[in-house]
Amino acid sequence: MKRGLFITFEGADGSGKTTQLNNVKMFLEEKGYSVIVTREPGALDIGQKIRDILLHHKGVVADRCEMFLFLADRAQHVETYIKPALEQGKIVLCDRHTDSTIAYQGYGRGQDISLLKELNKIAVKGLKPDLTLLYDVSTETAQQRVGSEKDRMESAGIDFHRKVRNGYIELQKEEPNRIKLINANNSIETVFEDTKDIIIKLLQEK
Ligand SMILES: Nc1ncnc2c1ncn2[C@@H]1O[C@H](COP(=O)(O)OP(=O)(O)OP(=O)(O)O)[C@@H](O)[C@H]1O
Ligand SMILES: [Mg+2]
Repeated sequence: MKRGLFITFEGADGSGKTTQLNNVKMFLEEKGYSVIVTREPGALDIGQKIRDILLHHKGVVADRCEMFLFLADRAQHVETYIKPALEQGKIVLCDRHTDSTIAYQGYGRGQDISLLKELNKIAVKGLKPDLTLLYDVSTETAQQRVGSEKDRMESAGIDFHRKVRNGYIELQKEEPNRIKLINANNSIETVFEDTKDIIIKLLQEK
């Protein structure tokens, strides 16, 4: 039985997920919670190999291959790392998870969204985040923050990134209870205040 809390961080490349995740980790640890930080793709050994292909492979990666690689990584990650940590009562902060697949491979690459949702369900075997923080930022600002050192996903072009952003917003409208939208155009401090408000509310509810 799950006892901990599972919180995922979503949004465009450069939206500030990792920055805020680290802030949240410090905030929760100061309050005495036991926190683990992880990410997709590629938190663990098999995953690191998958991550290397996904982010750095120079040749063609077929869309379906990309999709199954992300899902394979997720299945391994959930089973061997996230679920055991939750069973031990930990708060798991995960940098990207199922919504990234829908936003990037579905809305971004144009793959069948209902199929992706089904495949996600198979990969996670019933696990759902207690909370998803969605950092929404203008595509131009996000691109500036990422800078010129882009990986394979980040290099996919501005139209692709606009579609991803809109996809995330659609997902938030579908699941407003789980997914909380945060305006990530603001300063790091303001974004963290908004993040903290949401986290405090979640802790009070649990
Ligand atoms: N609210 C903000 N205002 C200005 N700069 C920011 C803000 N949030 C993050 N940054 C800066 O933008 C860059 C990208 O932030 P970060 O790495 O947290 O984004 P990310 O969403 O994790 O990106 P990726 O998906 O590429 O991992 C960093 O240099 C960070 O310091
Ligand atoms: Mg990051």
